[in-house]
Formats: sequence, C-alpha cells, structure tokens
Amino acid sequence: MSKRIIGGLGLLLGAGLYTGSVLAVGPGDPDRGQTAAATCTACHQADGSGKNVPGGESWPRLAGLDAGYIEKQLHDFQAGRRQNATMMPFANMLNDQQIVDVAAYYSQMEVTSAGGGESASDALLNRGEQIANRGDWDKYIVSCKSCHGPGGKGVGSDFPGIASQHAGYIRTQLHAWKDGERSNDPQDLMGAIAKRMSDDDIEAVAAWYASQTVSAEGEE
Ligand code: HEC
Ligand code: HEC
Repeated sequence: MSKRIIGGLGLLLGAGLYTGSVLAVGPGDPDRGQTAAATCTACHQADGSGKNVPGGESWPRLAGLDAGYIEKQLHDFQAGRRQNATMMPFANMLNDQQIVDVAAYYSQMEVTSAGGGESASDALLNRGEQIANRGDWDKYIVSCKSCHGPGGKGVGSDFPGIASQHAGYIRTQLHAWKDGERSNDPQDLMGAIAKRMSDDDIEAVAAWYASQTVSAEGEE
C-alpha cells in the first residue's frame, strides 16, 4: 500500500468517516475482539457462557463456537436474514473487521456448561438422546448427529456445536424454525426438521444437548 493511500485512510479514520467497507478485512484478532465485545458481556457474559434465564430469554453460549459460524450469524442479523429484537442493535454496532475480531475472541474460549437440562426426567433425556443420535424414522426426523457431528460438537463453520448449549436457547431456535421465524439456514435444512418435531420432541432434545459436556480436547 502506498504512503499516499495510508495517509488518505488516516484522514478518513481521523474524520470519523470510516465505515468498515473501505478497508479489506484482515484476520481476526482476539485482543481487538475483546475490546469490541465490551457491550456483549451484559448478556453473553465475560466467559462467553451466556445465560439460561428460566422462563425468560436465553442468551446463547458463544464460547468455543466456530469463528466462521459466529461471523455468519452477525452478518445475518445485520442484513435482517436473522431477526431478533434484542440482538439486532448489538450486531449493528460492529463493522466487518470487528465481526471477524469478536468471532476470533469467542471461538478461542473454552466451552462452558449449559443450563436448562438439570431437572429433566430420565424419560425426557432418553427421548432426547434418541432424536439426537438416531433420529426418528417414523416421523422422518434425521438424527441431529448426522449434521452437528458426534456428541453435537459441531462440524466446521456450517454446522454449529449444540452440545452444552442452553436448553432455552435450543428450544427457542427450534420453535423459531418451526414457525418460520428463523430461516437463515442454507437450503432450509433446519426448518425441514423442526417442522416435523412435536413440542415434546423439542423439549427433549434441548434438555439432552444442554446436559452434554464438551471436553476441552474435544474442541479445536
Ligand atoms: C441484551 C442482550 C444481548 C447483548 C448485549 C448481545 N447479545 Fe448476542 N444474542 C442475544 C440473544 C437474545 C441472542 C439469540 C437471538 C435469537 O434468538 O435469535 C443472541 C445471539 C447472538 C449470536 C448468535 C449465536 C448463535 O449460536 O447462533 C451471536 C454470534 C451474538 N449474539 C453475538 C453478540 C455480540 C458479538 C455482541 C456484542 C457486540 C452481543 N451478541 C450482544 C442477546 C444479546
Ligand atoms: C441436514 C443437516 C442438519 C440436521 C440433520 C440438523 N441440523 Fe441443526 N443446523 C443445521 C445447520 C446448517 C445450522 C446452521 C444454520 C445457520 O447457518 O444459521 C443448524 C443450526 C442449529 C441450531 C442453532 C445453533 C445456534 O448456535 O444458533 C440448533 C439449536 C440446531 N441446529 C439444532 C438441531 C437439532 C436439535 C437437530 C436434530 C433434531 C438438528 N439441528 C439437526 C443443519 C442440521
């Protein structure tokens, strides 16, 4: 980059005109990400664990999620492809570089344990485990494991880890897909499955995944 261009950028930055679209986005930096995530901790917590507020809104765990997945979700909120009144203003605060940085920051954190599965009955957990690992062919429900991976730990940037995610959050997302309120998944993969699930199925699989722990060495 020539000195003149750098000087010009400096002027833009200095004048507060920088919008994030001028510069190519560089690799994610967890330290810058921590700074950009200062407002996020109110809900997603300093350790990225989020919070399962019983009977209330459930803030997802971000710690240990794949960076590419986090980036996609933030872009989806910004573009309105994914809608949530609580989250949208915070996604809109970030420029493209900050999105990459906060994704790097949260993705390198250790996976934390989840709430909402503690009081589930054995029968409910058994049903959840069945749907997660074997699916239910009578209802044409494919096992969650076939996309989200063994133990629900996630596969790459496309299939997020859902083990040790809060039950309230998993439940909300499945209902959102079932009701057509979330539709940012490629090829309606999740919508097709959620629409075949009863409320009890959703309750069961949410409780089971929330009760699963993810060991540190199981994550990258
Ligand atoms: C006031 C509470 C609140 C704050 C502050 C907040 N979020 Fe969120 N966030 C939520 C909620 C609620 C959801 C779930 C939205 C839904 O149900 O679709 C969410 C979802 C997300 C997701 C999607 C996670 C997934 O597994 O798909 C990401 C990524 C995220 N937030 C990042 C951030 C970042 C980065 C910040 C700070 C810049 C932030 N959030 C600030 C409440 C908040
Ligand atoms: C055919 C592949 C496929 C199967 C099977 C599947 N999923 Fe998904 N799931 C996806 C994809 C792709 C996404 C990411 C959507 C996006 O990009 O926003 C996703 C996202 C999710 C999320 C949102 C995670 C988050 O952090 O926001 C939850 C919860 C979820 N799936 C639960 C389930 C459960 C429970 C099952 C089994 C009943 C299941 N999925 C089966 C493909 C699948």
